[in-house]
Amino acid sequence: MRVVHTAVELRAALAGKTGSAFVPTMGNLHAGHVSLIELAKQHGQPVVASIFVNPLQFGAGEDFERYPRTLDADCNKLAAAGCDIAFAPDVAELYPVPQTFTVQPPEALANDLCGAFRPGHFSGVATVVLKLLNLVQPHVAVFGKKDFQQLLVIRELVRQFNLPVEIVAGDTLREADGLAMSSRNGYLGASERIQAAALQRELAAIVAVIQAGESDFEALCAAASRHLKMAGWRVDYVALRDAANLQAPTPDSTRLVVLGAAWLGSTRLIDNLDFTPPARA
Ligand code: PAJ
Repeated sequence: MRVVHTAVELRAALAGKTGSAFVPTMGNLHAGHVSLIELAKQHGQPVVASIFVNPLQFGAGEDFERYPRTLDADCNKLAAAGCDIAFAPDVAELYPVPQTFTVQPPEALANDLCGAFRPGHFSGVATVVLKLLNLVQPHVAVFGKKDFQQLLVIRELVRQFNLPVEIVAGDTLREADGLAMSSRNGYLGASERIQAAALQRELAAIVAVIQAGESDFEALCAAASRHLKMAGWRVDYVALRDAANLQAPTPDSTRLVVLGAAWLGSTRLIDNLDFTPPARA
């Protein structure tokens, strides 16, 4: 695997190669990221991964400074997974001038759910992903469903700007107790780590009850939120949406997603489950 740090080195590594499959990451890689590399391998060659903690998508007071940076371990994992090129630029390389020209995702997507609690976050994500897609020029780019709202923002970015890339979605990899793998899980203390799987359990309980025919979605989300609060979480939201567009579900919605974001101490965790609702009687 080649590890490159500049746009010029990246271009040289990609010279003469078309049809690459790209996995953007912020590093501190876990098995969920590795599964995206494996998925990318099925869709194109060479496989390119980026490792870049993007300051533009962190708000004031968020964890940009303490976000774990583990480049050597990440490169070992990428190489073992069969990645061909790792692109790990520094901030000055990706933002040589202040990024005053930014992508503003549609308000309905960007200001809802996580966007409502993290103003500017999805603009920062869309802007860096546009830059990375322009640098790598992949044929396919792979994103995880773990960040479901981000995936939809990227799909919309590609659609509305006619970007010549196919977006492929990877399933969420979980720990044995159901907790979605995340670089931020490393922030959790021992007792928080035990508690952390409750978010996923609450979402799964909502899915099960809906599958069994319950249709008072708001009451289900409110109950889940209450359970989490009673267990010591600070809840940003628990919401049930149409998986195609994150709008409120309609009787015509063919796929739903239940999403949650909540804090354990100083760690914000997100998770979601998408599913097919039972056929209407
Ligand atoms: P990061 O959080 O490092 O995630 C990189 C990719 O891995 C994203 O597509 C994310 O959805 C996926 N991922 C995270 N946890 C996963 C899991 N448990 N199972 C499967 N896939 C998982 O998302 C970002 O970085 C950034 O916002 C980025 C897109 C790189 C832009 O800066």
